Amino acid sequence: MDYILELCHVEKTYGEKENRVRALKDINLQVKEGEFAAIVGTSGSGKSTLLNLIGGLDTPTKGEIFVKGKETGSLTRKELTIFRRRNIGFVFQNYSLMPVLNVYDNVALPITFDKGKHINRRYIEELLKELGIWDKRKKYPNELSGGQQQRAAIARALITKPAIILADEPTGNLDSHTTIEVMGLLKASCKKYSQTILMVTHNEGIAQICDRIIHIEDGMVVSGARPFPGKGGEGVC
Ligand SMILES: Nc1ncnc2c1ncn2[C@@H]1O[C@H](COP(=O)(O)OP(=O)(O)OP(=O)(O)O)[C@@H](O)[C@H]1O
Ligand SMILES: [Mg+2]
Repeated sequence: MDYILELCHVEKTYGEKENRVRALKDINLQVKEGEFAAIVGTSGSGKSTLLNLIGGLDTPTKGEIFVKGKETGSLTRKELTIFRRRNIGFVFQNYSLMPVLNVYDNVALPITFDKGKHINRRYIEELLKELGIWDKRKKYPNELSGGQQQRAAIARALITKPAIILADEPTGNLDSHTTIEVMGLLKASCKKYSQTILMVTHNEGIAQICDRIIHIEDGMVVSGARPFPGKGGEGVC
């Protein structure tokens, strides 16, 4: 079985001596192409750290991460940047929109970066309309509500049709109606383009909509009966 994503004995330690934090401890995980997985766990359990490592924004202290069969640790910084841009879409907790660009240009930005890639204006329009922010396309991030900024960030993550979408609480700032719409859009995009989505959520109802729940506690993947149970997620490397 080929996995689009595989983590083998991944560990992440921050800081030194008395400041040492073992954020991830021996994570083994395999994700199939097209899977929509929820990542759940209490605050500080290591969810964002896990996404950052998978996305190559940070490097593991130990272990290996394979994305589309490539061990990301073997890539040079430059190779990793290109690999990330071509294959991974991020939605962060803090939106990370460019303040000097309007919504439309923020969404088009990942394509603008990738020389030679054609900007599909129709797809931008389709996404912004589906996310209900087409009328905000000329506004700047500081002119938008938190939920509108989050939707712009989601459109930006989807615009390159990345193989993997890493989303850190993408619906955290949305009302329940928009949350349902955004989940529908992510699911539809996942199906249509065979995308793999890993999404951190604190919302049990949202997690249940996903194909699979990966439960992280204290830097480890756990399975079995829990108050907010997961169906597993660990694997053997
Ligand atoms: N850059 C960093 N430097 C030092 N410690 C860090 C850093 N980033 C995270 N940590 C620590 O690593 C642990 C895991 O943090 P992480 O942000 O991954 O948790 P989380 O599950 O995403 O939490 P939340 O649900 O609150 O977002 C925490 O103890 C945190 O304090
Ligand atoms: Mg987090």
